[in-house]
Amino acid sequence: MKVLILPDEQAAIQRAADIVARTVSGNPGSVLGLATGGTMLPLYEALAQRHRDDGLSFAGTTSFNLDEYIGLAPDHPCSYHQYMQKAFFRHVDIDPARTHLPKGDAADPRAASEDYETLIEQAGGIDLQLLGIGRNGHIGFNEPTASLGSRTRIKTLTTSTRRANQKYFESFEETPRYAITTGVATILASRKCLLIATGAAKARAVADMIEGPLSAACPASALQLHARATIVLDKAAASELALTEYYETVHPGGQDSVFD
Ligand code: GLP
Repeated sequence: MKVLILPDEQAAIQRAADIVARTVSGNPGSVLGLATGGTMLPLYEALAQRHRDDGLSFAGTTSFNLDEYIGLAPDHPCSYHQYMQKAFFRHVDIDPARTHLPKGDAADPRAASEDYETLIEQAGGIDLQLLGIGRNGHIGFNEPTASLGSRTRIKTLTTSTRRANQKYFESFEETPRYAITTGVATILASRKCLLIATGAAKARAVADMIEGPLSAACPASALQLHARATIVLDKAAASELALTEYYETVHPGGQDSVFD
């Protein structure tokens, strides 16, 4: 794992935006795996700004989001479809026909999950997978004990994840219990992945992911198996790591190493 520790959230977001921009400029036809959550909002803002100011173009890219709540139609204000429109898609030149999210309102969510996995394969797989991390170590909606060999499917959300996401809904009761999420193995099949974590609330999960045992108890620890995983952290999210001195030696200030 490439562990990049930046002084603060803003620097971490700009560093992550550099990595996305470099991927898209290097391969304008990139297939991007996109994520939602509060952590990603400033990243999408930074990318939209680079689109406006520097001409960074997403016109040739294809995107697949990690997950969507079951029972929410694409026009539901709390759906991830709406999140993506508001946070990113409407601010850049990505072709709406090439943006994909799981169909949370499908009559048969199981079939919709399988179809989604097929669509990713048909697109040639994901070049760069963006990820956040839940406080309990989840990636996508792969909650603790999710199979490390899992593909896109239905997952039941933990109470802690529902509580964390309750702020986007009217009440805890209205916060969805189920989601369609790409699996841990789907995420591991991406050619590169980029996980971003900011803030002290993520510090324990980050330490478990990077330095803990490989375990379904912390689904993000599966990234230890990924050959090209980059983890971008601010100091607060890195605060429970034991080997910080080593990460700082390899990537001083979160910058590239001498061999990158
Ligand atoms: C949600 C999403 C995840 C995201 C996580 C963390 O549950 N399904 O993809 O990484 O929350 O969200 P936040 O960035 O708001 O802490």
